[in-house]
Amino acid sequence: MESSKGRPVWRGEVKQVGTITVTDDTTGKTVKLPLLEGETGPRAIDVRKLYAETGYFTFDPGFTSTASCESAITYIDGDEGILLHRGYAIQDLAENCDYLEVCHLLLRGELPNPQQKEEFERTITYHTMVHEQLSRFYSGFRRDAHPMAVMCGVTGALSAFYHDSTDILDPRQRMIAAHRLIAKMPTMAAMAYKYSVGQPFMYPRNDLSYAENFLYMTFGTPCETWKVDPVLARAMDKIFILHADHEQNASTSTVRLAGSSHANPFACIASGIAALWGPAHGGANEAVLLMLEEIGSVERIPEFIKRAKDKNDPFRLMGFGHRVYKNYDPRAKIMRQTCYEVLDVLGIKDEPHLAIAMELEKIALEDPYFVEKKLYPNVDFYSGIILKAMGFPTSMFTVLFALARTVGWISQWQEMIEDPQQKIGRPRQLYTGNPGRPFVPLNKRG
Ligand code: ACO
Repeated sequence: MESSKGRPVWRGEVKQVGTITVTDDTTGKTVKLPLLEGETGPRAIDVRKLYAETGYFTFDPGFTSTASCESAITYIDGDEGILLHRGYAIQDLAENCDYLEVCHLLLRGELPNPQQKEEFERTITYHTMVHEQLSRFYSGFRRDAHPMAVMCGVTGALSAFYHDSTDILDPRQRMIAAHRLIAKMPTMAAMAYKYSVGQPFMYPRNDLSYAENFLYMTFGTPCETWKVDPVLARAMDKIFILHADHEQNASTSTVRLAGSSHANPFACIASGIAALWGPAHGGANEAVLLMLEEIGSVERIPEFIKRAKDKNDPFRLMGFGHRVYKNYDPRAKIMRQTCYEVLDVLGIKDEPHLAIAMELEKIALEDPYFVEKKLYPNVDFYSGIILKAMGFPTSMFTVLFALARTVGWISQWQEMIEDPQQKIGRPRQLYTGNPGRPFVPLNKRG
């Protein structure tokens, strides 16, 4: 793959650095497996030939110890709290770039130069309108439909409108599909919101930035001239940057798995949206706010901390813990700062949810249960408070996450399609069902 500078996208090599020998203690049989090393991060045991050579599978539900692909896009060191996109630290990107620059970086491998930035912005801007017929899909949903349900539907429906960018083997069509998805997602998300509140859809405006345009389509109305506060537009943009990609998480892996069968990119992204919806993943930002509402006051925090620690209670502290980060999520720190800025510009002084969140964070960071299990606040812990302050209903929180993550999904999808090692994803299983029994005719079944 080439970056827009015409240079190949920077990609290091996976090297074999040795072998590892596995012994079956029951038979004494041994097998030597290659030991692989990427640019940085833990080594991996290459088990691709394991089944062919031994007849054994590996067993790893939840993929806690399994690398599913090679990737040059995003790197996370969960112990150190490091997140890099194409080698750049998330803090530097959030501080110095806008979201579309980060999109360019993820999708094309390099930050754009000024001319490329302008071209990329123009390309995305000129794809923001959706097919007029697509807007009629919305009226097929109940008014009280969850906007994530709407987003799954309309994103999947894009493949029925943009046939000219569904040939996944054509690099140009793949890139057009990527541009369309990044560009149309804010329009479709704003339409989902407008539909839920019964207001007219707002057409995108080409004179506005990506984040401004989204805020305009969401909160503007045809009745008045709408102006966005630059601090809020910047905060929105930062939220998009912080959610842009996060390597092989559940939704990205879903997109890759769907794409591995050569499904079209719009269908793949719809599958990612579905996976993101769950409260253990992208739905957590909505769940955080519902939890803060349920807690209600600082005095009740100990009761909820106790519940979170109780093995027999399914309650978990939403916005805490992460499969990969066993340290402070670097995005959470930036989000906390953004939260203060937004509340300040909106003149919100005694936001009750923030007071509960701050106290909760303080207690959890000192409590041995959370300390020992390395449960730190994650990116969703603060984003909900910001989004609520900006006027988004909780049901829209995960939609915003999906909007921002679309670039990560499509970049990862594109990388997978271009990977010569790509095969259809097909995990195996440890069967625990009945090993086989004689068929019983209906009249003999008790
Ligand atoms: N509150 C209380 N206890 C927790 C929490 C929590 N939020 N998270 C994990 N634990 C405990 C578990 O009970 C478990 O305890 P045990 O070892 O005694 O059984 C231990 O910590 C490890 O937890 P796992 O569930 O095994 O960790 P896993 O990596 O599978 O889960 C997850 C990570 C899903 C994020 C989990 O921490 C969680 O449910 N958090 C709350 C939801 C949330 O905020 N999700 C957003 C994730 S970030 C994102 O998607 C953007």
